[in-house]
Amino acid sequence: MDKKKLNHLALIVDGNGRWAKEKGKKRSFGHKAGFDRLEEIILYAKEKKIEFLSLYVFSTENFKRSTEEVCYLMDLFVHNFKRLIKKYEKENIKVIFSGRKEPLEDRVWNAMEEIKEKTKNNTGMVVNFCLNYGSHAEIVDATKKICQKVIHHEISIEDIKEDYFEQNLYQNLPPVDLLIRTSGECRLSNFLLWQLAYAEFYFPKTYFPDFTKTEFDKAIDYYYTRDRRFGGITYEDKNY
Ligand code: IPE
Ligand code: IPE
Ligand code: MG
Repeated sequence: MDKKKLNHLALIVDGNGRWAKEKGKKRSFGHKAGFDRLEEIILYAKEKKIEFLSLYVFSTENFKRSTEEVCYLMDLFVHNFKRLIKKYEKENIKVIFSGRKEPLEDRVWNAMEEIKEKTKNNTGMVVNFCLNYGSHAEIVDATKKICQKVIHHEISIEDIKEDYFEQNLYQNLPPVDLLIRTSGECRLSNFLLWQLAYAEFYFPKTYFPDFTKTEFDKAIDYYYTRDRRFGGITYEDKNY
């Protein structure tokens, strides 16, 4: 059995609103609890020697939510990115982002740029926040970048191979090994469609604010039970 190391883990943070509702609280209460949990899980992932962690925290589609909820989330991001700079400098965590700039407010973009800049030389783990992220948008944006290069004769059509396409995505990260989506939803909601091509999927019912280290361990244990074949076979079967 192929015990491929869990190198890149992707996480769809979901269920904050339902978690709060079940407690008779506002959705914002769930988002706050979700971000606190996320902070804990990031450090735990580092302890578990995961090198790349991609976190879906706000989709391009999430702008459909009420202005009040979107504003609350943006405030939460700004506040936490500012606060986390010192902590991640100490923890040797590098923060990067995937997503479109428009229509993020300057204060949000500036907070993103600041933590990215201040942690850029860190080598302990890469945390890729997918914020104002949509996979369709990413693929369209990559295609546009590549077309520009063809138009300006920097590359020819024949140069467009899978590797080259990947290099033009928002981030050039290794493929995702394991995807976790909390809250029981079994869909991708426009997340990392290219990068998830051969990922293992894990869908716990737990709402994200309740996604403890023990729950995280269960996801990792599940990953190491998988037989990752990548189209080949991993056992001796002469019966063909
Ligand atoms: C995930 O929780 C956080 C974001 C999408 C920003 P939700 O807000 O989607 O929570 P539910 O799915 O409504 O419970
Ligand atoms: C996906 O969750 C986006 C994030 C977790 C950031 P949603 O809660 O927005 O997805 P749907 O609407 O249930 O598909
Ligand atoms: Mg949701």
